[in-house]
Amino acid sequence: MALKITVIGTGYLGATHAAAMAELGFEVMGLDVVPEKIDKLRRGEVPMYEPGLEELLRRHVAGIEGSTGRLRFTMDWAELGEFGDVHFVCVNTPQRHGEYACDMSYVDSAIASLAPHLKGPALVVGKSTVPVGSADRLAAYLAEHAPAGADAELAWNPEFLREGFAVQDTLHPDRIVVGVRSERSEKLLREVYATPVEEGSPFVVTDFPTAELVKTSANSFLATKISFINAMAELCEATGGDVAKLAEAIGYDDRIGRKFLRAGIGFGGGCLPKDIRAFMARAGELGADQALTFLREIDSINMRQRGRMVELTRQELGGGPFLGKRVAVLGATFKPDSDDVRDSPALNVAGQIHLQGGQVTVYDPKGMDNARSLFPTLGYADSALEAVRGAHVVLHLTEWREFRELDPAELGEAAAERVVLDGRNALDAEAWRRAGWRFRAMGRPGA
Ligand code: UGA
Repeated sequence: MALKITVIGTGYLGATHAAAMAELGFEVMGLDVVPEKIDKLRRGEVPMYEPGLEELLRRHVAGIEGSTGRLRFTMDWAELGEFGDVHFVCVNTPQRHGEYACDMSYVDSAIASLAPHLKGPALVVGKSTVPVGSADRLAAYLAEHAPAGADAELAWNPEFLREGFAVQDTLHPDRIVVGVRSERSEKLLREVYATPVEEGSPFVVTDFPTAELVKTSANSFLATKISFINAMAELCEATGGDVAKLAEAIGYDDRIGRKFLRAGIGFGGGCLPKDIRAFMARAGELGADQALTFLREIDSINMRQRGRMVELTRQELGGGPFLGKRVAVLGATFKPDSDDVRDSPALNVAGQIHLQGGQVTVYDPKGMDNARSLFPTLGYADSALEAVRGAHVVLHLTEWREFRELDPAELGEAAAERVVLDGRNALDAEAWRRAGWRFRAMGRPGA
């Protein structure tokens, strides 16, 4: 009989995973402890902006006309335990308040709520990003607290999806990594991922600590690449070099590669910043902190870029205080094609300028509601053109396609001064200059 799958936690990761599992043909039940999320999902609505996810969900959610009916949602742990053969844990692991370490309370409470309902053989699969050593601890907890005892097994299967590409990354992963302790667990996971494996996704089988480390080391490597190129941008600025050309030229070496070498205001979001910090904290607990001290520098290079953007803006405004200056900010989300503003470099820059007395007006294609609730005191406009109207300087801080398609001549008519700073190295400098703008980008020669 076909496997039945449950997904615990319906954020970015869980909602996408649940819909993808239904797309692969499984009967799926999703659980969340937030009633509003469940109500929305039952209506086929996604609680965040993620391209393609709503369509995928609507194709499978039971009760929606024309759907396969393979995907249902519940808040009832007993129903979930009864239903599933394989339970994916997809809850959030944020940074703890006032500390670098990861907050494991959602994972711990999901496992504690599920355990008493595992009465027969079951596989619990962790997907959340956790400190190395967690799987070991959680496996012991399950064996002790599940009525099925040792038949309630654990596996760790980290997730590598990117926001904005979540559906594609989940249905066609570039690798599947499973940390397992038994042949039975491996066999079950091979069954779950049979379709992508047939299509060519590599399937890497390993132990618990390696599976956990693969995730945090992958994100640390990506963060390192970004901070590396931003450090080179600082050197380019000091020497008159051009970081975009530099990135292109080193990127032709395929040992280096061209991806993730876009200099600018740096990385943000719900993953990279908190993951490198949690990794450092965990290394400290394990007595291996020296191995990761370089990540402290990666973090500080990254955070420094936000301050550099503020200073560059100040310079362009004549070097004095921001008081009385109108600043248009294009972009609020931490990256394009997402409405996520968690630890967004764009909003951080906007907030710093606002706190120093600048009159900031923000526009973002999808992130306005989230930005407003995080930073209610900033000004907001309904379009890029409205944000730019009357501005003394325009900051391009999130590289949405919409911003690359703007007409610099039309914006020039609306702005008080034609000065634009590209914090993402994504605009066409020549097109802006032709329209009379003074154009500056981080790590590139000036106007
Ligand atoms: C990241 C990883 O890329 C995923 O593989 C991982 O699964 C995910 O975290 C996670 O841990 O769940 P995501 O947070 O969606 O995915 O964002 P990225 O695409 O990695 O971008 C992160 C930040 O780096 C963004 O703020 C982006 O603007 C910035 N970035 C990216 C640069 O500044 N320069 C670049 O060249 C690339």
